[in-house]
Amino acid sequence: MAYHSVIVGCGSYLPARVVENQELAAKVDTSDEWIIERTGIRRRHIAAEGETTCDLAYAAASAALQNAGVKPEAIDLIVLATATPDHTFPATATQVQARLGLTHGAAFDVHAVCSGFIYALAVADNFLKAGQAKTALVIGAETFSRILDWKDRSTCVLFGDGAGAVLLERQDGAPDVRSQGVISTHLHSDGRYKDHLFVDGGPSSTQSTGYLRMAGKEVFKHAVTNLAGVVNEALSANNISAAEVDWVVPHQANQRILDATARKLQLDPGRVISTVANHANTSAASVPLALATAVGDGRIQRGQLLILEAMGGGFTWGAGLVRW
Ligand code: UT7
Repeated sequence: MAYHSVIVGCGSYLPARVVENQELAAKVDTSDEWIIERTGIRRRHIAAEGETTCDLAYAAASAALQNAGVKPEAIDLIVLATATPDHTFPATATQVQARLGLTHGAAFDVHAVCSGFIYALAVADNFLKAGQAKTALVIGAETFSRILDWKDRSTCVLFGDGAGAVLLERQDGAPDVRSQGVISTHLHSDGRYKDHLFVDGGPSSTQSTGYLRMAGKEVFKHAVTNLAGVVNEALSANNISAAEVDWVVPHQANQRILDATARKLQLDPGRVISTVANHANTSAASVPLALATAVGDGRIQRGQLLILEAMGGGFTWGAGLVRW
């Protein structure tokens, strides 16, 4: 029996506290103008003291379940993408599972940093296609504020906290570009570029959490090339043109990356969902947050063709073609 998966609902959660650029300019040598001009970011949400990735993930998951009209008991797979888990172990996914009151099925984390949601979506989609699960909760959740060096202006202005989630249901029949569902996913990684974007700590190396370090210019160059490449790969694998895509739902790292990638793909920038101004870069949460935002405000409509894409530390990058 062939199967495919359908996204039956989505949801998101942002911590209450909003930090405007001006607040950061009072702490490090930066300015609202520089941040807006170089990144498009105006503000970001920051988790409250004691509010963890699991809290954010659970709130986004609850919103997605409500949006789908599905009871938690139906879930038999939870895949959670994060680079900022509550603990080294157990996986944050298992803590979300417990909060949802579930003791059946499987829950685990996927770690691909900013590409994490695309990776998690691909993993869950393949579990469903293989017949190994029926209803999957896919979450991207991060508290990057906890791994930022708040004295380093080149990184601390770029990131925010948040979470987004989708609920996938298995349906009969192979994926088809004309039918609702996840049509295909495409994943890549290249470990040679670790030093361009990494956290300088970890349980096995320094026994400390560490801080995010990034060679921004290098990452920027790779991002545009890799993202345009993987979007083209997804389009040609399904024999469709960029003109047939209704919405691009990209990872939100920098408005200039969104614009440059759209230009390279000859895509109308009006069809690119952008939330970077209000959310900054929320790593694995950014794609489902952007998706939930555009579904919520009515831009994304059922039946439309979406391309989701992201690139992050590793390097990792990927794309998913979805008929909403
Ligand atoms: O999500 C994972 C993927 N991550 C990304 O995709 C991030 C990709 N990279 C970027 O978005 C951009 O490279 C940045 C936003 C990080 C930086 O923008 P840039 O245009 O590449 O700036 P730059 O790093 O070349 O820095 C230009 C200048 C430097 O000063 P000098 O050397 O020209 O005097 C920096 O020291 O801007 C300075 N600078 C700042 N100035 C004010 C760096 N950060 C700041 C700041 N405020 N926050």
